[in-house]
Amino acid sequence: MEEIRLYVREDFSVLPELLRDEGEVYLVYDRNVSWAAEQIRGLCALKGFYAIDASEAAKNIDTVLGICRFLLDAGADRKALVLALGGGITTDMAGFAASIFKRGIRFATLPTTLLAQVDAGIGGKTGVNLDGYKNILGVIRQPEFIYTAGCTLETLPEREFRSGVAEMLKTFIISDAPHYRRALELLRSGARPDAELIRAAAAIKCGVVERDEFETGERRVLNLGHTVGHAVEWWQAGRGGYSHGEAVAIGIVQAARLSESLGVCRKGLATRLEADFAAVGLPTICPVSPSEMRQAIARDKKADGGSVHFVLIKDIGKVEVRLLPVDTIIQRLEIANL
Ligand SMILES: NC(=O)c1ccc[n+]([C@@H]2O[C@H](COP(=O)([O-])OP(=O)(O)OC[C@H]3O[C@@H](n4cnc5c(N)ncnc54)[C@H](O)[C@@H]3O)[C@@H](O)[C@H]2O)c1
Ligand SMILES: [Zn+2]
Repeated sequence: MEEIRLYVREDFSVLPELLRDEGEVYLVYDRNVSWAAEQIRGLCALKGFYAIDASEAAKNIDTVLGICRFLLDAGADRKALVLALGGGITTDMAGFAASIFKRGIRFATLPTTLLAQVDAGIGGKTGVNLDGYKNILGVIRQPEFIYTAGCTLETLPEREFRSGVAEMLKTFIISDAPHYRRALELLRSGARPDAELIRAAAAIKCGVVERDEFETGERRVLNLGHTVGHAVEWWQAGRGGYSHGEAVAIGIVQAARLSESLGVCRKGLATRLEADFAAVGLPTICPVSPSEMRQAIARDKKADGGSVHFVLIKDIGKVEVRLLPVDTIIQRLEIANL
């Protein structure tokens, strides 16, 4: 695939230049960032704009059809460009709508959550939930470009911010030890990640996607912390409690425990990660019992005939993917968590 075009700026001032040669541009945005949509409308010539509610309940095919109807009513042609402004829910849905409208028109993501800036807004996975199954409908289709305006984070609630922090640290654990250290230093001082950190994490994801767009190999590394993380989310369904990022933080610590138990990394890595995460307000204790964990992992869509591609940590900045039987994972984690 072509190189991903990634722009990380303080504000939207460079966006008009990127849209200079575009014919029709439509903006689909999350109502909670109407203020940013206003800024874009003031800067760029838009043919139309459409607000959506960004919630998991509204992340469904009806909302996508609403976006498609908006484009149809506005007379969008096949060369139109859709800008998706919001967090992952918005970029997933607007990207999906653009991907099916008239058999696919172009879209660009303008992520407004830290999580979307380093993860969801990048990589071309689009889609919606169906009957309680997350992201079960969708396609992989790359955005024209990704434009992050750092200023959008100003209104992001603390909890959402922390969720993004977990994905950012995950990315650095996968392949960038120096930025892992820098991120922790900054976060511990109470500051929010700056443009350099967002750009570094986003660029790592771009590189992985460019090398393995359809997740047949390397892209699996991005699932670090997600096998157990998804189990935590599944276990708590209906009870509330952990955000996605918080569940991933718990999952990363468990991945480190398993890595230690398999001799993939030195002893003490899990304890270090626990201390690091706790220092930036992320949870680390896994609330799921071994039997519930077995059930959850086995039902996860990534489970493949009783085994899962589990991302192990060799050291901060280095990971390894191994196909492991679910039983092995459960048995080893049970002992490691004693
Ligand atoms: N496509 C992918 O590769 C991928 C990867 C990870 C997650 N996802 C998906 O992304 C979704 C989660 O996305 P998310 O965590 O980025 O956010 P989100 O879209 O779920 O938004 C979280 C909340 O923050 C609000 N919000 C967003 N930006 C804001 C801002 N700047 N100021 C104030 N409020 C703001 C939203 O309205 C919403 O209430 C999930 O549905 C998940 O499935 C997709
Ligand atoms: Zn995630």
